[in-house]
Amino acid sequence: VHGSELARSLPGRRYTDADVFGAELERIFARSWVHVGRSDRVGRPGDYVCPTVGGEGLIIARGPDGSARAFFNVCPHRGTRLCDVDSAGNAAWFRCPYHLWRFDPSGRLISAPMLAELEAAGFDRASGGLRPVRLQELHGSLWVSLASEPAPLAEQVERTIRRRFGQLDTFQRYGMERLATGAAREYEVAANWKLVVENFMECTHCGPIHPDLCRLVPAFRSGRASYHGGEAGVELAPEVDAFTMTGRSSRPPLPTLAAGDHRRFHALVLLPNVLLVLVPDHAVLLTLFPIAPARTRIRCEWLFDPDELARDPNTVGDAVELFDRINRQDWAVLERTQLGVGSRAFAHGGVLAPSEAQIVDFYDFVRERLDGAAP
Ligand SMILES: [Fe+2]
Repeated sequence: VHGSELARSLPGRRYTDADVFGAELERIFARSWVHVGRSDRVGRPGDYVCPTVGGEGLIIARGPDGSARAFFNVCPHRGTRLCDVDSAGNAAWFRCPYHLWRFDPSGRLISAPMLAELEAAGFDRASGGLRPVRLQELHGSLWVSLASEPAPLAEQVERTIRRRFGQLDTFQRYGMERLATGAAREYEVAANWKLVVENFMECTHCGPIHPDLCRLVPAFRSGRASYHGGEAGVELAPEVDAFTMTGRSSRPPLPTLAAGDHRRFHALVLLPNVLLVLVPDHAVLLTLFPIAPARTRIRCEWLFDPDELARDPNTVGDAVELFDRINRQDWAVLERTQLGVGSRAFAHGGVLAPSEAQIVDFYDFVRERLDGAAP
């Protein structure tokens, strides 16, 4: 039926099987640096968020010294989950609801009702704090690693950027480290995380489901332009000035861009869990949190020049509405796809069109890491 040169998609159970999913958490998400959001999610001392990474509940908190740290969301006393998953806020301390052990944002054990008794019995309070997880801030974002000896974060990120653009300059001109979050939305999507990544890597679906995107970036209408658009990116439509709902912008282009960037659209994937769109006056950053084989939490952050945001924080709606719409269009077809991939009709997978062939790089990334660990 298919020419031998056509690439196949993954077999259906790769998207539905609990063992496959468990192997991916262990061998991909617990071994790579994983993006958890922008640094300004925990901008001030005491700010904290509680994401799930590699199947582990984490607490990410900024301490009074200004450093962001990550901990397992587990009370070291009896193993109780400290904070509700996906809760966020500002706190001077975290208190376990079970026996009221209290920890500060640096993870230190501050107090516990039976502390004197414990110490009399030889308990070392200094080592009784929250168990730390490696965290680094890079390009204005928070990254964590559950690996015991992770490769350097910069290497992981820059390898992908170089592969995508052939150099680092294009990415660096967007000045990711100084952009500020103007808006964020979170979505619960009933689809496997790999379907979300695959969808971002091809634009053959853009004509069918993304009318606004195609109006702004006509090259996507044919589906032949890859969503990545190659090293040079893709041009905005001639009558359009910005990647916003109206095609007009409330902001000037980012100040560090070159003139040649002022009409460009770039998209890139930073595996395992970042999907990034770079446009002249902002960036859209999607972070995937796989929760179950058919459930992915997705955080979308819209990033702007901090001076523009300070000037008027209420002008971001033109950018937010557009990509929120694109997101919802994508999630609807992905949830529908999840419903079909588990069928015996899809047991051997499907087929990739030549213009979707870059998805094979992603399959290779996953296969290399699973290496026989899952059927
Ligand atoms: Fe899409």
